[in-house]
Amino acid sequence: MKFNVNSYHFKLLRDYERLSAFKEAIDDYMVEIDNGSYNNGNGDLKSSSRIAFDLGCGSGVLSYFAKDYMDNIIAIELNNSTYQLAKENLKEFDNVYVFNDDILSFDFSKLNEKADLIICEMLDTALIDEEEVPVLIYAKKYLKENGTIIPQGIINSAEPIFMNNHFIQYEDDEYAPVYIALGKPVIYSELNFLDDLDSNFSAEIEFMVYGEDDLKSMGFEEKLADEKFERFNLKDNFNIEENKLKINGIKLTTFTNLNENIICGPTPMLNPSMMVPIEEVELNCGDSVRIKLEYVMGGGVETIRTEILEIVHN
Ligand SMILES: C[S@@+](CC[C@H](N)C(=O)[O-])C[C@H]1O[C@@H](n2cnc3c(N)ncnc32)[C@H](O)[C@@H]1O
Repeated sequence: MKFNVNSYHFKLLRDYERLSAFKEAIDDYMVEIDNGSYNNGNGDLKSSSRIAFDLGCGSGVLSYFAKDYMDNIIAIELNNSTYQLAKENLKEFDNVYVFNDDILSFDFSKLNEKADLIICEMLDTALIDEEEVPVLIYAKKYLKENGTIIPQGIINSAEPIFMNNHFIQYEDDEYAPVYIALGKPVIYSELNFLDDLDSNFSAEIEFMVYGEDDLKSMGFEEKLADEKFERFNLKDNFNIEENKLKINGIKLTTFTNLNENIICGPTPMLNPSMMVPIEEVELNCGDSVRIKLEYVMGGGVETIRTEILEIVHN
């Protein structure tokens, strides 16, 4: 199958790991469902059919993966030129209906039927900058009681870092910050999309910065001598002999639970890690620091707030 795509969707399609995770989850779904009749083949939306919503369908690739398992697929895309591509890509599959609409105002009640499956790849790191959560809050009203969502949810982790600049940036950005991790990652939230969702997120996260032994065993001082750290004099911020470290950021990493068995870490086009600046603080090796992290899922990176709540000298 040849897909017509623009450059953004070309990159999404070329991300083999992202695509294969979704393909596997959609195939797993098929194994789970019974062997009812699938494609009615006449283009009419049948009642009592097995129905999927592909929300934010983009090029239509996920509808393509699901088309043989469902009687009808409702694929919705906001962007008009992307919608045109999806319509063209999926035109020979008469059980796939592509709509050019904003999901958040789409009248699902006109379908007269709820979905067995919602596929929604509107993911981004910690779900902050894309509308996965608002879209699911809205569309879940039209999911059958025993319905399934792919992906099923996410797991977020954070780790304390020191970075060379003070902007919110993704790890894959052309001018991504140079950073060094100063503590182990902490899982700070897990979301199951079938649960009640709230776009407003707030958590207190406790990090423990590396102790002297950790720093020695990871070759911290030698690492700082690397050219990429030297260039920004990162080592001037640490005095290992006196046990003094600094942190000025946290790195957020999101893992996607496609279903109960498939977890996908960041891939080039799926949730690259995000560096978030925080107030710079000096710590001793082995200290703990408690940080408040707040954001609105779907509200954009401008909604991110951080606050240092407490430093505990261990
Ligand atoms: C990350 S892309 C994924 C595309 C496709 N599902 C895939 O996996 O290749 C998300 C898509 O959602 C669309 N989108 C974003 N907000 C939307 C909204 N409110 N309603 C409909 N589509 C939306 C974007 O235009 C984009 O094409």
